[in-house]
Amino acid sequence: MSLEKSVVVITGGSRRVGLHCARTLRHLGCEVHITYRSDRPDIDVLRTEGVICHQVDFEEDDSLNRWLDFLRKDAPPMRALVHNASLWLPDSDPATDYQTTIRRMNRIHCEAPYLMNMAAAERLRLGGSPLSDIVHITDYVIEKGSDNHIAYAASKAALDGMTRSFAKRFAPLIKVNSIAPSLLMFQEDDDLEYRRKTLAKSALGVEPGPQVIADALIYLLNNRYMTGRVIALDGGRNIR
Ligand SMILES: NC(=O)c1ccc[n+]([C@@H]2O[C@H](COP(=O)([O-])OP(=O)(O)OC[C@H]3O[C@@H](n4cnc5c(N)ncnc54)[C@H](OP(=O)(O)O)[C@@H]3O)[C@@H](O)[C@H]2O)c1
Repeated sequence: MSLEKSVVVITGGSRRVGLHCARTLRHLGCEVHITYRSDRPDIDVLRTEGVICHQVDFEEDDSLNRWLDFLRKDAPPMRALVHNASLWLPDSDPATDYQTTIRRMNRIHCEAPYLMNMAAAERLRLGGSPLSDIVHITDYVIEKGSDNHIAYAASKAALDGMTRSFAKRFAPLIKVNSIAPSLLMFQEDDDLEYRRKTLAKSALGVEPGPQVIADALIYLLNNRYMTGRVIALDGGRNIR
């Protein structure tokens, strides 16, 4: 199935995994739209590469509502909507309290994707060739749990739950699947000890980089018989 000229929207597309997926799909000839929250030099570069960039903060009501209006009324017919935006907030973040942490996590990983899926449904139905896709990027921790990112894990579990619910609601024209990765990319300031311990958690023991997500995304977009399912990209953590 050719993806050329297909409209693909990726949230949180200005850095790391989202940025890589945006560039990969752009190289395949897609019309790529990304959302970004903070301005950074990569945004101008992306624009020169033909990526359409929308500044949206999912935690700001006005900003989110403007974006939902765009998805509902002004967006072109869409082939895919990819929920990649995320914040890995620990429960013990000294800058905030537990109430704020769980509220922020729910907003970014559950409420905003829920509202976007509802708002974009009509555009997605119009943009399929013949099918269109919603992809939720979740996390391996929804299966295993986390003792210091409980709110993060719970909100990603909600996103995982919505995969099946939206797959039922939007069938047969829109497929809805999720990708559940464990380590993809370290943060620049992760120290050697943290890196060693994290790599040892998986059977494959590598930092795979963002291409594994791009590969899974392209697989989902090209597959006409998969909906309400999860692709686990965790290097075999479950068998370790
Ligand atoms: N990287 C990994 O090893 C790993 C492991 C497991 C799961 N994942 C999942 O894979 C996906 C990509 O990971 P990543 O490491 O590339 O993520 P990342 O570097 O943290 O980037 C997340 C993106 O989300 C955006 N974002 C955060 N809060 C937002 C808000 N309130 N409103 C709008 N946008 C917001 C960020 O924008 P700003 O930069 O402007 O803040 C950023 O562009 C995420 O869903 C993550 O949970 C990643």
